[in-house]
Amino acid sequence: MRQPLVAGNWKMNGSRASVAELLAGLKAGIGRVKAAEVAVCAPAIYIPDTQKQLEGTPIKWGGQDVSVHASGAYTGEIAGPMLTDFGCHFAIIGHSERRAYHGETDATVAQKFEAARAAGLVPILCVGETLDEREQGITEQVVARQLDAVIAHCGIEMVGQGVIAYEPVWAIGTGKTASPEQAQEVHAFIRGRLAASSPVVADSVRVLYGGSMNPKNAAELMAQADIDGGLIGGASLKADDFLAVCAAANR
Ligand code: 13P
Repeated sequence: MRQPLVAGNWKMNGSRASVAELLAGLKAGIGRVKAAEVAVCAPAIYIPDTQKQLEGTPIKWGGQDVSVHASGAYTGEIAGPMLTDFGCHFAIIGHSERRAYHGETDATVAQKFEAARAAGLVPILCVGETLDEREQGITEQVVARQLDAVIAHCGIEMVGQGVIAYEPVWAIGTGKTASPEQAQEVHAFIRGRLAASSPVVADSVRVLYGGSMNPKNAAELMAQADIDGGLIGGASLKADDFLAVCAAANR
């Protein structure tokens, strides 16, 4: 049985004051979340505040990216061990915004996955096609390429220690959610791709959906056989909305 995971990706949003308010709201309402494991991925500079507020609660926290290096002369980067130093459990890896705006290739993403694991983090590996790729009918090819790069570099056992997030780029921040059927189709494909290397890993690894998931559509998406939770952007910035998405995994 795969425990659902709902992770918030705050992206580059918030202030010390708004983070404090959001976390206070999550702490106050987390009791209504029965089934899902819950996490927030904060901007790096707010991770110490996040740790202070969430320590001792059931809510975990993580980073949004990790350097391929463990330390050294890499100005501006944040290393995996620095994240674990502040109690991080998760790190988002290969988000489409980093692939698109920060030049992250499949090879870089695979190295980052490995670096996150080396630091003891649970990587949340993002994969997903653009609108153009979907219209060309190459969604499966794109997702397979993104997944295979990490399997080839890290090995299927290491991939099994992480989480996969299917995030169709055209659904991110657009209000256009993939339909439950569209999402399930790709999730099943991802699980099949993993099963080709290891049926055990395919069966145990959590595959989250991300892309305009909100309190209205979360339950239907998470009811799909291969959707094990969500990676939530916009709706993770309001405590009530995020908690409602988390509670949608209650069965
Ligand atoms: P939205 O929920 O804002 O569409 O963002 C999804 C996402 O990119 C999460 O990583």
